[in-house]
Amino acid sequence: MAGRFITLEGGEGVGKTTNIAYIQALLEEQNIPLLLTREPGGTTLAENIRQLLLDKEQESIAEQTELLMMFAARAQHIKHVIKPALEQGTWVLCDRFTDATYAYQGGGRNMALSSIQWLENFVQGDLRPDLTLLLDAPVQLGMQRAKQRGKLDRFESEKMAFFEQVRQSYLSIAAHQSERVKIIDATQNLSSVQAQINQALRAFTQ
Ligand code: TMP
Repeated sequence: MAGRFITLEGGEGVGKTTNIAYIQALLEEQNIPLLLTREPGGTTLAENIRQLLLDKEQESIAEQTELLMMFAARAQHIKHVIKPALEQGTWVLCDRFTDATYAYQGGGRNMALSSIQWLENFVQGDLRPDLTLLLDAPVQLGMQRAKQRGKLDRFESEKMAFFEQVRQSYLSIAAHQSERVKIIDATQNLSSVQAQINQALRAFTQ
């Protein structure tokens, strides 16, 4: 595939929204054709699944249902958006992807990694991100920021222990796949976070 696939990951309140706009600007400055998208979501059906996943005013969602909904949304997104873009030579910048499933459903919900691996292979074939930037901050700090944004969704309403497991899972993925996953220290001020992002991207685009 001609395009490259970049993902942005991190726990709640680590500054993904601000920083994804910065990454987009950096790549577009280099005249790289780019598609910005997100998970769960990115197609009409996948965005509908996202709404169901984030809504906490409904019947409780079984963990298996949650895991399958993540991959159902992902299958749509890959088939209709991500693969066609990459095949055309467009780069794809995605706000979260399967590392989030390992962190939230694997770490947070304690679901078997073998089930996630099976679904990953089934849904994605050999599609994997080429580069992942992981925004990392202590859970307490991220949750303070998330609360300032307003009403918490179904995931944001989880307990601190859940987010601690999410963070540790992300850090473990980064430790095992250090070629692909670059940790960005999100506790720093914005210009320092952006300098770290700039450095990781420069090493990747050169
Ligand atoms: P967002 O906060 O990036 O908009 O993502 C929505 C929520 O979905 C976030 O709390 C993390 C969660 N999520 C999972 O639990 N598993 C996944 O595979 C993905 C992509 C997101």
